[in-house]
Amino acid sequence: MASGSITVSWELLLVFVSIAAASVVVSGTATEEVPLMRSHDGGGFSRSFHRIFDASEYGILQLKNGLAQTPQMGWNSWNFFGCNINETVIKETANALISTGLADLGYVYVNIDDCWSSAARDSKGRLVPDPETFPSGIKALADYVHGKYLKLGIYSDAGVFTCEVRPGSLYHENDDAELFASWGADYLKYDNCYNLGISPLERYPPMREALNASGRTIFYSICEWGVEDPALWARDVGNSWRTTDDINDSWVSMTRIADLNDKWADYAGPGGWNADPDMLEVGNGGMSYQEYRAHFSIWALMKAPLLIGCDIRNMTAETFELLSNKEVIAVNQDPLGVQGRKIQLSGPEGCHQVWGGPLSGHRLVVALWNRCSRASIITARWESLGLESSTSVSIQDLWQHEEVAENAVSSFSSWVEAHNCHMYIFTPWSISISDI
Ligand SMILES: *[C@@H]1O[C@H](CO)[C@@H](O)[C@H](O)[C@H]1NC(C)=O
Ligand SMILES: *[C@@H]1O[C@H](CO)[C@@H](O)[C@H](O)[C@H]1NC(C)=O
Ligand SMILES: *[C@@H]1O[C@H](CO)[C@@H](O)[C@H](O)[C@H]1NC(C)=O
Ligand SMILES: *[C@@H]1O[C@H](CO)[C@@H](O)[C@H](O)[C@H]1NC(C)=O
Repeated sequence: MASGSITVSWELLLVFVSIAAASVVVSGTATEEVPLMRSHDGGGFSRSFHRIFDASEYGILQLKNGLAQTPQMGWNSWNFFGCNINETVIKETANALISTGLADLGYVYVNIDDCWSSAARDSKGRLVPDPETFPSGIKALADYVHGKYLKLGIYSDAGVFTCEVRPGSLYHENDDAELFASWGADYLKYDNCYNLGISPLERYPPMREALNASGRTIFYSICEWGVEDPALWARDVGNSWRTTDDINDSWVSMTRIADLNDKWADYAGPGGWNADPDMLEVGNGGMSYQEYRAHFSIWALMKAPLLIGCDIRNMTAETFELLSNKEVIAVNQDPLGVQGRKIQLSGPEGCHQVWGGPLSGHRLVVALWNRCSRASIITARWESLGLESSTSVSIQDLWQHEEVAENAVSSFSSWVEAHNCHMYIFTPWSISISDI
């Protein structure tokens, strides 16, 4: 498909595209639609197709520490190991990131979650690594991880204790940030337990200041569980912000959290888009292959952090296949940085879903997600995507790794197994005068 076949500029086309508010009824089943050009609030404005690719008005991250240009990728100990961690497991995980090739695909953060520290501070008030499980200390571990060109993440809590009742950093922000920096930490996940009922808006900014004052560039991952709508304020405070409570390794939890995070898609944009629906459960055994594929696809599309939560020293071939899909990772890391979202619902209880979002190069990512318990055809209609129905689109299937349509017009359908998710890149390419 030669680029010469584009006969009309996008700008010109879009002036003429008008979007009908769509509320369609298909064979007795209500179809709900929030086309890409409309906001979730359904508000009075309708954006042109061009506007969904215009990132100039999105929130600019005030935290200008140079990080989070794309969602962070790596691993975190919690989902698989919980409190059962030690320096051996962290080192072996770093080794496995290298030997599997996952590090080369972008998974570079090795993040230690709760339970690395002793139950009490030392006589000088400093946090101390648990001498049983981290006898060499965190600095030695950071050196080890850095020796492999990976980055080390540490964990603390904006309260008096962490969730597993280790000392928290509330009112110790400066000392703790300085200590983390002196160890060579590259990332801080900052949790929300034992917070004395003080608003996150008061508890999270002091750690931002402390990390900045440490002089070391440290990714600041806010984990206040979405309780005070961090999408509305956290882009000034952290590099990413959790929008939900904890995920667990089940279909019910994963779908629920996807929906909760989706609510904030309209607030996301480059530099202020890193809404975090929690870490991946792919590979932990509680969901089917299809369900994990949906989990990974939707997290990538939503521009969620891709933080692996399984034991990567011991992954099945299927788990590796999911986590290492370069085409899906590229959607997550797309430089346009706009969070995709749910745009079309049909079927029983809206369980036939189309999710989508804009990508760089005037492309779109589109996912057909069957959340029903029976296989079904799901159809993405061009109007939902903001395309004129006569626009030709080439369609690349990101799980089959092949082009499945060269000149699709009007709509695209696929038979999707129960709980599975198909994921595509749509490249609209030929726009003829008759379209406008
Ligand atoms: C370290 O933790 C792993 C995972 O929980 C465990 O299998 C291993 O026995 C532990 N090693 C030591 C030396 O405690
Ligand atoms: C501290 O913040 C300033 C202003 O946003 C920024 O330019 C600088 O890079 C930050 N330093 C670190 C270490 O994060
Ligand atoms: C997992 O999350 C779901 C949805 O929030 C919840 O109903 C379920 O009880 C949780 N399961 C466990 C084991 O915590
Ligand atoms: C590796 O994972 C399998 C399940 O996929 C499990 O049965 C086995 O015990 C694990 N091995 C180790 C050493 O953890």
